Amino acid sequence: MSAAVVEKASTTREGAFGNAVALSCRECGHRVDLGPFYACPECFGPLEIAYEFGEVTREQIEAGPANIWRYKALLPVPSDIEQSPNMEPGFTRLLKADNLGAELGIADLWVKDDSTNPTNSFKDRVVACALSAARELHAKVFACPSTGNLANAVAAAGARAGIKTVVFIPSNLEQPKQVNSAVFTDSLVAVDGNYDDVNKLASEIAGEEDGWAFVNVNVRPYYAEGSKTLGYEIAEQLGWRLPDQIVIPVASGSQLTKVHKAFQELIALGLVEDKPYRVFGAQAEGCSPVSVAYKAGVDAIRPVKPDTIAKSLAIGNPADGIYVLDICRGTGGAVEDVTDDQVREGIVLLARTEGIFTETAGGTTVAVLKKLVETGQLDASLETVVINTGHGLKTLDAVSGSVAPAATIAPTYAAFAATGLA
Ligand SMILES: Cc1ncc(COP(=O)(O)O)c(C=O)c1O
Ligand SMILES: [Zn+2]
Repeated sequence: MSAAVVEKASTTREGAFGNAVALSCRECGHRVDLGPFYACPECFGPLEIAYEFGEVTREQIEAGPANIWRYKALLPVPSDIEQSPNMEPGFTRLLKADNLGAELGIADLWVKDDSTNPTNSFKDRVVACALSAARELHAKVFACPSTGNLANAVAAAGARAGIKTVVFIPSNLEQPKQVNSAVFTDSLVAVDGNYDDVNKLASEIAGEEDGWAFVNVNVRPYYAEGSKTLGYEIAEQLGWRLPDQIVIPVASGSQLTKVHKAFQELIALGLVEDKPYRVFGAQAEGCSPVSVAYKAGVDAIRPVKPDTIAKSLAIGNPADGIYVLDICRGTGGAVEDVTDDQVREGIVLLARTEGIFTETAGGTTVAVLKKLVETGQLDASLETVVINTGHGLKTLDAVSGSVAPAATIAPTYAAFAATGLA
């Protein structure tokens, strides 16, 4: 964000960011004041929010609303956040997935189903936090580069909040994801390039234009914290305890790192018992820079040109990739990838076992879960959570060739009997 907004940011009201006290560099620990900053002035490392929480109790949280604001004490948002118009995302279902578990040989399996958020992906969580920051920093425009779901969430949240939105997407994006943004904003910009090109363009615009809050660029530290609520909810819905294993899709890697951060915070605050848990990352083979580095045993992530049907995960140069490697290795997890055919099979498998229609990101995650069991990387005897981050109606084309009516018949009993379906 440019100088004009920085100046205004100094007029930020007291308590604008709740219990957040500073921005802290993930690489060198250098601290800067809360504001529209995202890179460390010392080493250019990514900044993240640092807090002084004080006491936070289960009772306080349980008395809150059935959305992410029940965790507002743990987020960089003001204590009156519920008063400003927002999409009220979160507190989605955690479903016991016995049928899928039986199919995969996992004794104790849960699906965290984030496809039921207001715009049908987990992105409503991060956008709600970014919107709060944009408001408190007096941004004029709410914007993002996106692989699709983020654009939907930004466009909708901006409409509800009455703030101008401009969203940028790769022009080859699935049509439903384009419509799901364009219906909320007259400023959807389709860019001829892949996500990494769109992201670069957004950074350039953020440097040129006054007062633009790009949710995942210049207010990224605030935005990213929204993903922590997935971790808080899973723990609370399990009865205030952590699962043994969790499988999470990886594009930029932000979500995975924040679910881990959430678990660590819950332990530090005494809200759950400290215990080991293993974190697994899921990628599609056609865009698997993190899983390639994981398997090669190296720390550096080599950017790739994405080529996969899992377009929502198609980030070839993932900002949080190195942190994903650290967490997955450090917790005894892994990062794995699957082919596009396996992604399609994963979508159908989840649908037919649990009645949940997921998009390609979820197909990737379910297929990776299956592969992790088959290869012995995941312990099928332990309690496992898999996150479904988006809805299948947005990526219909992925499975429209593999699922179809079993028969097309005349409206007669004889015709039906002839199908053998009776
Ligand atoms: C449905 C879905 N799942 C997962 C992700 C990955 O999120 P992250 O970039 O935080 O790794 C995305 C990102 O766009 C997404 O749209
Ligand atoms: Zn630094």
